[in-house]
Amino acid sequence: MTKPSAIAESEGDTNRTDRRAAWQAGSLDATTRRLLARDSDAFLHQSVSTPCLNAIVRAEGIWIEDAAGRRYMDFHGNNVHHVGYGHPRLKRAVAEQMDALPFAPRRYACEPAVALAEKLGAITPGNLGKVLFTTGGSDAVEVAVKVARAATGRHKTLSFWDAFHGAGTGSAAMSGEMLFRSGPAGPMVAGALHVAPFGGYRCPYGTDGAEASGRACARMIDYVLARDPDVAALVAEPTRAVPYIPPPGFWAEVRRICDRHGVLLIFDEIPTGLGKTGRMFSCEHDGVVPDILVIGKGLGGGILPIAAVIADPRLDVGGDWAFGHYTHEKNPVTTRAALETIRIIEEEDLVANAARVGVLALDRLAAMKERCPAIGDIRGRGCLIGIELVRDRDTREPDGDLAEAVLYRALDAGLSFKTTMGNVLTLTPPLTVTPAEMATALDIVETAIGGAEGARRT
Ligand SMILES: Cc1ncc(COP(=O)(O)O)c(C=O)c1O
Repeated sequence: MTKPSAIAESEGDTNRTDRRAAWQAGSLDATTRRLLARDSDAFLHQSVSTPCLNAIVRAEGIWIEDAAGRRYMDFHGNNVHHVGYGHPRLKRAVAEQMDALPFAPRRYACEPAVALAEKLGAITPGNLGKVLFTTGGSDAVEVAVKVARAATGRHKTLSFWDAFHGAGTGSAAMSGEMLFRSGPAGPMVAGALHVAPFGGYRCPYGTDGAEASGRACARMIDYVLARDPDVAALVAEPTRAVPYIPPPGFWAEVRRICDRHGVLLIFDEIPTGLGKTGRMFSCEHDGVVPDILVIGKGLGGGILPIAAVIADPRLDVGGDWAFGHYTHEKNPVTTRAALETIRIIEEEDLVANAARVGVLALDRLAAMKERCPAIGDIRGRGCLIGIELVRDRDTREPDGDLAEAVLYRALDAGLSFKTTMGNVLTLTPPLTVTPAEMATALDIVETAIGGAEGARRT
């Protein structure tokens, strides 16, 4: 099935571009090529993964190392490496737990699972406190929606275009990315409604500025909810992954709108939870407590897969049904890993570090923007940073070609990151990132932008 060209254009670092092929031709050794060929033969091909870019043999702290021995600071990490790769304390805890109790069939309680559920209740805002675990974020989002359906007696969801909530059929339906929900992915789950998101620099409602965009988006949410009484929940990332920071008051207004219409608010903090944005949960920046919070990714410490649904106890009304009946629902090893990860984040003061380094990065980026006309906008919170590249500051025409060139130049200089929406360099280092590492990364980005622009002129 052929893809509409908009899909290819919406992702800068898809795995089939000429620039990627050129980078590989100049960068990969024979051993790596052989492994990539076996990988390509063994796995079903899909966009943004197989065939792969390169092969790695080591991941430690902020670093990944490829098969040829080159090291890259990983400013992507799929947002799992909050505590850095292979934290020694975490590895010890996982090993101890494997010796003590490697698995618990679902009908048995075990100490690490209960302790993790209690800990999540203690660190999440407001009254959130009743928990279900899954192995992945996509499943957790779907569980959250089933809980909301049980509690409201309604079945539809409202979410944002351009959002990502997971690759499962239900989560992809709530997502707003063509790559995951169109063509062979369809038909999707019925009742997944969408509105355009807020976005100060590129507002789909045609407004100018973050506040106006937020107001327009909130008005549209109100408009839709007023016309559809079957919506159980609004599902959204409180800080959009592009990234887009919500304007002040936006979520408070949306919270009021949801309450007015009897709609629950589900925040998907799978990448942003546990400190990524410089607060333990990104919704704390906005002082808004959802009815259900979903986290994942970094929860397993970058070693094990685990996600969590943390709900207001008043939603615990579906006890006769099975919402999250997953084999690893109360796995002692994954839950112990999560518990230890949270303790490391707390005891090493990593949330404050993410906030501090994020401020330094935005200061530095503001200066870089003065020097570099290709930077149209900079946005960020903590360790979630976006640098939007444009062909022309006045027209704001996206420069995906430049973003892709910068990505491969940065790899050559030892920095790995991804692009979103084609033209946004998206930097998501671990919470352990030091000011010096951030400065080095931004030096690499600035040099790469200058180099790529120079190459284009010649
Ligand atoms: C906001 C958001 N929600 C959900 C998911 C899905 O998580 P998983 O890949 O663990 O299913 C992701 C993954 O990238 C995400 O970024």
